[in-house]
Amino acid sequence: ENALRVGGELDGANVLVTAGGTREAIDSVRFVGNRSSGRMGFAVAEEAQRRGASVTVVAANVSIPRSPGIAYVDVTSAAELADACAARFDACDVLLMAAAVADYRPAEAQAGKIKKDRTGAELNLSLVRTTDVLSVLSERRRPGQLIVGFAAEHGAGALAYGREKLTRKKLDAIVVNDIGGAGIGFESTDNEVWIVTADEERHVPKASKGVVAAAILDAVLSRRSSNDI
Ligand code: CTP
Ligand code: CA
Repeated sequence: ENALRVGGELDGANVLVTAGGTREAIDSVRFVGNRSSGRMGFAVAEEAQRRGASVTVVAANVSIPRSPGIAYVDVTSAAELADACAARFDACDVLLMAAAVADYRPAEAQAGKIKKDRTGAELNLSLVRTTDVLSVLSERRRPGQLIVGFAAEHGAGALAYGREKLTRKKLDAIVVNDIGGAGIGFESTDNEVWIVTADEERHVPKASKGVVAAAILDAVLSRRSSNDI
């Protein structure tokens, strides 16, 4: 066998990936959630490992198979995801924030189970904003750290929304997918994205999430060499 290894561009790098979708408790059995499967985040993590990185995945409610050699930290809610990321951010060289983090959570989770005979014909849930994990981490980044956001957008304004988040959250890149497209995005094995940085927009046509993951890391690595870390 050839001793030469393919990849290796991320040898020695610590890569932190978030994946899946958070769940915010309504009571002990119910939650407010979203449709993210974790497939895109897991594909990015596997590709980073293939390129030599030491990879940690903060996984929010992901039920797909895991890869040997990757460290997984399981979390449920946005608050748990925030804590898990805050504890690991300083040690990472690249953060890829693929998780769908809830923007709102129930103001208070009821202890036990809400019973319908006690709540009557209508039940109003009061929701409060969660912390924007990505913005908080980006504010405390050290020189050389690369931060990549992900945005699932709908329709014609997708790229503009993505570009606005790139600037507002001070990211190196944002991966935008239009969830209006058929057979891509949530719960799908394929994806089609735009990788937006300050100076370019790369379109990645519909492909497996593994191929899309490779394109994302290629874009990140070109930023990395220009940052010289
Ligand atoms: N994100 C985060 N914490 C949140 C919400 C989002 O870290 N509370 C991260 C996501 O993981 C993603 C990026 O921010 O990498 C963009 O998420 P998105 O939901 O598209 O952006 P929002 O700022 O929440 O805007 P909106 O949902 O209103 O479009
Ligand atoms: Ca959001």
